[in-house]
Amino acid sequence: MTPDLSVHIAGLKLRNPILLASGTVGYGFEISEHVDLNKLGGVVAKSISLKPRKGNPPPRVTETPSGMINAIGLANVGVDEFVEKKIPFLKKFDCALVANIAASTIEEYEELARTLDGVEEIDAIEVNVSCPNVKDGGLSFGNDADAVGNVTRRTRKATSKPLIVKLSPNVPNVAAFAKRVKDEGGDAVTAINTLVGTAFNIHTSKPKIANVVGGLSGPAIKPVALAKVLEISRSVDIPIFGVGGIMSWEDVAEFMIVGASAVQIGTANFVNPNIGETALEGLRDYCVNRGLERLSDVTASYKI
Ligand SMILES: Cc1cc2nc3c(=O)[nH]c(=O)nc-3n(C[C@H](O)[C@H](O)[C@H](O)COP(=O)(O)O)c2cc1C
Repeated sequence: MTPDLSVHIAGLKLRNPILLASGTVGYGFEISEHVDLNKLGGVVAKSISLKPRKGNPPPRVTETPSGMINAIGLANVGVDEFVEKKIPFLKKFDCALVANIAASTIEEYEELARTLDGVEEIDAIEVNVSCPNVKDGGLSFGNDADAVGNVTRRTRKATSKPLIVKLSPNVPNVAAFAKRVKDEGGDAVTAINTLVGTAFNIHTSKPKIANVVGGLSGPAIKPVALAKVLEISRSVDIPIFGVGGIMSWEDVAEFMIVGASAVQIGTANFVNPNIGETALEGLRDYCVNRGLERLSDVTASYKI
């Protein structure tokens, strides 16, 4: 029997649990030459703000052991161009389209959610409260449970689309944040965004990225991400998109076991842009070998 890879999460029925993570595939154009997006569960677009942003000065990325640090600073085309020019391309593909929003005030988050609520092609909205690379917002929201609660409440009122809040790992009690999201009407959480990190050139004593600190991603953060997903899964009844360092189908299975209903693949896209598709083959075999009719039965199976 062919195993059923489909999953239900946050009111979405996805063909399979694999999405591509925000910021690592832009608006889908380049990656679509390497992977058949029709085969994936979905794509999360780059964070968009109300107005276009140039982002931080270069250098904006540097490689680290088992990962990378980025401080892109939310460079993006702004919501108007996103809706007019980027969505028509992304909607050619038969997979879920998740828009991701970022802002420096609650009012901006609200306005973004209201604007995107009217865009039929968007299946869900992910709220980025956790970007470590902008001085005027993002992480300051992401590290304050009241602010995350307020952003969730106000964006919830502004849209009837599935609402996902992407949490920061840079807090000691991520489950408390997930609880606030649930209490304020969020449909799911994404865990995790990048960890704050830095790297210096020992010959010049200068930071390797102009912003000095940035977000650490890649395999280096996988154990942290797994622990955060597990912490949320153990104490809050809210669906979880697991993300952080996924490089293989085995990593997808591990995230599901600790509580993720679906996953997002980020940094791995830079190494192997076809990873989403190849991971699906491994997951199918995994189900057959474990005698599972449905992959979704693996979610939170540590509880059994
Ligand atoms: C270059 C780069 C840009 C990113 N931009 C965004 C972004 O715009 N919005 C967002 O919510 N997350 C962004 N992220 C975070 C990823 O979506 C993901 O949460 C994080 O990288 C951990 O997953 P990974 O280890 O698989 O990359 C970015 C990550 C990278 C590496």
